[in-house]
Amino acid sequence: MPASKSVKLNTGAEMPTIGLGTWKSGTGEVAHAVEFALKNGYKHIDTATAYENEAEVGQGIKASGVPRDSFFLTTKLNNNDHLRVEEALDFSLKALGTDYLDLWLMHWPAPMVQDLSGPDRSIDWLDTWKKMVEVYKENPGKLKAIGVSNFCIDWLKRLLENSDVVPAVNQIELHPSCTQEELVEFCRQKGIVVTAYSPLGSNDSPLLSNEIAKKIAGKYNVHPANVLISLQANKPGVNVLSKSVTNSRIISNLNVINLTDEEIKELQDIDKTNHFRVCHPNWTGWGSLGFSDCEMLRAIIQKAIESVIHAHILISLPSEIKIEGDGYVLHASRKPWLYGQKLNLAWGNQPIRACPDKWTFVFELVDDDKATPRHAEGL
Ligand SMILES: NC(=O)c1ccc[n+]([C@@H]2O[C@H](COP(=O)([O-])OP(=O)(O)OC[C@H]3O[C@@H](n4cnc5c(N)ncnc54)[C@H](OP(=O)(O)O)[C@@H]3O)[C@@H](O)[C@H]2O)c1
Repeated sequence: MPASKSVKLNTGAEMPTIGLGTWKSGTGEVAHAVEFALKNGYKHIDTATAYENEAEVGQGIKASGVPRDSFFLTTKLNNNDHLRVEEALDFSLKALGTDYLDLWLMHWPAPMVQDLSGPDRSIDWLDTWKKMVEVYKENPGKLKAIGVSNFCIDWLKRLLENSDVVPAVNQIELHPSCTQEELVEFCRQKGIVVTAYSPLGSNDSPLLSNEIAKKIAGKYNVHPANVLISLQANKPGVNVLSKSVTNSRIISNLNVINLTDEEIKELQDIDKTNHFRVCHPNWTGWGSLGFSDCEMLRAIIQKAIESVIHAHILISLPSEIKIEGDGYVLHASRKPWLYGQKLNLAWGNQPIRACPDKWTFVFELVDDDKATPRHAEGL
């Protein structure tokens, strides 16, 4: 099926297929990226209160001179704003310098304490959703659509059973190493558009040098990034956000190609042997949030704790760890982690025995002086 130019939301609105992401687009670069993108054909900008750049995104929008009603704007309720939904919306509108949002998402079904250092278990995300629905119904001038992000099937089922508003969108991680096909199909059946985030695999992604992505890119004479973005744009009911602060890439990423069914399958199959997530839900302190691949990861770590690591956990992690066993490899590399949070992952650098899985996981780890088996149990 040829790539779409836009996808229809359950509100009737059209949401452009390609959007500019702004996560990790830093101070001094994001305003320019947004301005440049809007002036060069982007009709969809994605940001979030958590990215701490809404005001600069707003500056970029203003500087572009592009009329507000000719592009789609998404932002997200932060994890520590679940008890002040209305205030959070007004904060975002003011920072972005706009009267309305085309789409407002619950960023994670994971309420967190004020300083985002851990979960706030006194709050149920379903109550937050109900409040978002109330605000949406009462403020049609401020909100054109509401949706969710990082919701798995079971969490969506719970929401749908308890709400008369179906989320317009579920924004989730999607790339050849995190395909989540069942979740995408579930959303399609329920009339929920899926927005693919981290389509390139985010910073320093191994997907850009993946042999299959390179081979297909060679055939169409494009960059592997175009193949990865196009993969999502070729899926019905799916749109995609790619982030760049580099002018040439911002322009080049708009070049979407029509992939064959065989090429789509070949790319999707990468997940079977090389699975990773950029955003492991564990960073919120709420565990796997129902995502089955993360549950499997938790089981593997649990196994590691039981079978290898007893009283002593390796505290100072080397920058690269590779743990190999029968039919699997666990590979960990140290990179800055989202929001400076700990991944709360601790293990020894010894082989993990009796691992039931054959996937390769790529983790991101940070130093954690307090690493103890308890942390890993919380995964
Ligand atoms: N809802 C959520 O929880 C969530 C989570 C993650 C992301 N998101 C959204 O999805 C957006 C996209 O995801 P992402 O930022 O994680 O990653 P991404 O778009 O998969 O990758 C961005 C990285 O790829 C580089 N890049 C971009 N175009 C390239 C090209 N043509 N060739 C080579 N490298 C290229 C960028 O570098 P330069 O910028 O230096 O060019 C940046 O390092 C985010 O920005 C955010 O808006 C949402």
